[in-house]
Amino acid sequence: MADPVGWGIVGYGWVARDFMAPGIRDAGHRLVAVADPGAESRAAAEAQGARAHATLEGLLAEPEVEAVYVATPNHLHRGAVEALAYAGKAVLCEKPMAAALADAEAMAAAVGRSGIFYGTAFDQRHHPGHRAMRAAIREGRLGTVTAIRIVYACWLDRGWTSFRGQDNWRIDPAQAGGGALIDLAPHGLDLTDFLIDEPIIDIAAMTQARAQDYAVDDGALLIGRTASGVLAQLNVAYNCPDTLPRRRLEVVGTKGMLTAIDTMGQTAGGRVTFIDGSTGASDDVAFDGQASPFLEQVRAFGSALRRPEERVAYSAERDLHTMRLLARAYAQTTEAAAVAPAA
Ligand SMILES: NC(=O)c1ccc[n+]([C@@H]2O[C@H](COP(=O)([O-])OP(=O)(O)OC[C@H]3O[C@@H](n4cnc5c(N)ncnc54)[C@H](O)[C@@H]3O)[C@@H](O)[C@H]2O)c1
Repeated sequence: MADPVGWGIVGYGWVARDFMAPGIRDAGHRLVAVADPGAESRAAAEAQGARAHATLEGLLAEPEVEAVYVATPNHLHRGAVEALAYAGKAVLCEKPMAAALADAEAMAAAVGRSGIFYGTAFDQRHHPGHRAMRAAIREGRLGTVTAIRIVYACWLDRGWTSFRGQDNWRIDPAQAGGGALIDLAPHGLDLTDFLIDEPIIDIAAMTQARAQDYAVDDGALLIGRTASGVLAQLNVAYNCPDTLPRRRLEVVGTKGMLTAIDTMGQTAGGRVTFIDGSTGASDDVAFDGQASPFLEQVRAFGSALRRPEERVAYSAERDLHTMRLLARAYAQTTEAAAVAPAA
């Protein structure tokens, strides 16, 4: 790449190591430095040729770091994003924006004050299969879109992250802000907006604490409606064995239907099918099955860093709306294990 972007990473854990760092490398960009209080995480970054700092201040002092990916546990996003905004760095922050709505509001305000380039890391916008679905919908192949149906589930038990020696912060309400709902539903809510160019406005939800032995919800059903009347339903869960079918996305319209299997997630591939509403005939929709959503996310963010006119694809205010939907979803549920992001 002629003008490779110099990246920093705050929080060099699972998603940073397994998906973002390879995305940076494969895009031809450079991972310059990380900040992580964990000695094992810093050693892993140094093994990749990056400089490693125990605190954010060390990373902020790196002039070669232009863009910073924030991938700490959710409750720490705010402090990192505020400091990075103050320092004038571009920020790509993991979802959910924060563990609490008030933190996300403060982040959006800091972004607005500083004028930095900010994006939430909704990698699934960048999955080539989802981009192909969006193009087909914009071409009118589905007619009038009526409904979106999403299943996005996995198995996440109490000991889930122990293989890395990391804390399982996802089951701590204070660090995560909730359970399966706050962790997994942001993807489907944002993807709905991306696919049909229209956000969900009305939302209702039920959570469950059914199969796991911890304090946050291990499953949720959400139903939403856009301003023009598209209905969306999402089933997200931490209580579904990974060997079962658990990643499915359908967009239904008056002229046809698109189905995506195993496209939601961090990896490349999956299958997208179009079913014609008049004949019932089904065809595979072609897309690049090799490019991971993280690689495409790095490319898109780097491109927008260099070409400010492309930044219209990013919006802290839009992502704040997604956080408000999550808070409203939790506020509505009556399940004892549901933990609402603090107002
Ligand atoms: N987009 C996706 O598909 C996706 C996938 C996984 C995780 N995520 C998000 O990424 C974030 C991280 O998740 P993970 O699974 O990688 O977590 P993880 O526990 O594996 O890693 C978190 C890292 O943050 C570090 N950390 C803790 N406190 C810190 C601090 N004050 N400053 C800097 N680093 C600190 C930890 O030492 C650890 O290395 C979460 O917000 C999560 O929701 C997104």
